[in-house]
Amino acid sequence: MRYNALMHILGIETSADDTGVALIEAEGEGQGFRFKMLGNEVSSQDIHKAYGGIFPTMAKREHIKNLPALFDRILGVYETTNIDAVAVTVGPGLEPCLWTGITFAQELSEKWSVPIVPVNHMEGHILISMTEKGRLAKFDFPALALLISGGHTELVLMKTFGQYAYIGRTRDDAVGEAFDKVARLLGLSYPGGPEISRLALAARSSRLKADFTLPRPMIHSDNYDFSFAGLKTAVERYVQAHELHSLDREKIAREFEDAVTDVLVYKTLHAVEEFGVSTVIMGGGVSANKHIRSELSSKLEAMGSKLLVCPPEYSTDNGLMIALAGYFHALKKDFIDPQNLKANGNLKLC
Ligand code: KG4
Ligand code: ZN
Repeated sequence: MRYNALMHILGIETSADDTGVALIEAEGEGQGFRFKMLGNEVSSQDIHKAYGGIFPTMAKREHIKNLPALFDRILGVYETTNIDAVAVTVGPGLEPCLWTGITFAQELSEKWSVPIVPVNHMEGHILISMTEKGRLAKFDFPALALLISGGHTELVLMKTFGQYAYIGRTRDDAVGEAFDKVARLLGLSYPGGPEISRLALAARSSRLKADFTLPRPMIHSDNYDFSFAGLKTAVERYVQAHELHSLDREKIAREFEDAVTDVLVYKTLHAVEEFGVSTVIMGGGVSANKHIRSELSSKLEAMGSKLLVCPPEYSTDNGLMIALAGYFHALKKDFIDPQNLKANGNLKLC
């Protein structure tokens, strides 16, 4: 292994319903860090659309089918003999799905005689948002990570690289889960986030507003925890009690997106003040949401803080974020004996 020299890392992601494989070339540390994406292939599983959510056994079957195909596409343009390490997501996520990636990584590691770096999926979401144009963005610690995805809603304080402390999390449904469930109530397809966002945008651009307000759960609670199950139930009650006419879906989507945004932004700004943070790193599938991005970024800017977030196409699950996190751990030689690899559905950052 050529530590601190140019490294080639293969990243494998199978924690939920997206199969991702990526290859990066990276070198250096801190502000000297540089990387080039040599390949990034993602396959989103359409089979879950009919169910409005992820079916673990089907997702696992799809990963098994997709992984070799994505891998071939990447290695079709790249020389395998140069790979220095295989990075693979070991959690959090759905364990049957995680095992698919782990088994694939074990086979590659044996075939190529290269080490394996186990990666925490959420750290992947954080790291990809900390990079811009193949480098680390310029920012100061302490930073605050707002992680919003299909399975997580968390506020994490970062003293420095790799040092995490949870300050808040959801007590029930994750934000992405709420988007997906509300989309289902409105007859929209899975994943619901982009669908709700599309309708909400349509409502905003035509100045359509609901004549009711949804709750902003726990917005003024004396902590940094979240709760989104009640918000989904409020939409459910409204939909059950009213016949929906044309454009009602757009109005509900807008009010729902506003409610979620208000809670996320309010709590994040509070934490920024309390912990004296100058940088917020937003990551996870829901961070693709344009409204949340623009609201959070303008409010942070007004406070003299900045928002780091990756381009929306990299917000949802992919192999690139796993390869990036894998690189930083490979620098520290955080390798694992392939036989000791284990999926951990509830893996934490600290
Ligand atoms: O990070 P991710 O790809 O997978 C998990 O680790 O969970 O996040 C998926 C979640 C889904 O719930 C999906 O509806 C949501 O991200 N999502 C969005 C948007 N794009 C994806 N939510 C709101 N607005 C979006 N534009
Ligand atoms: Zn994710």
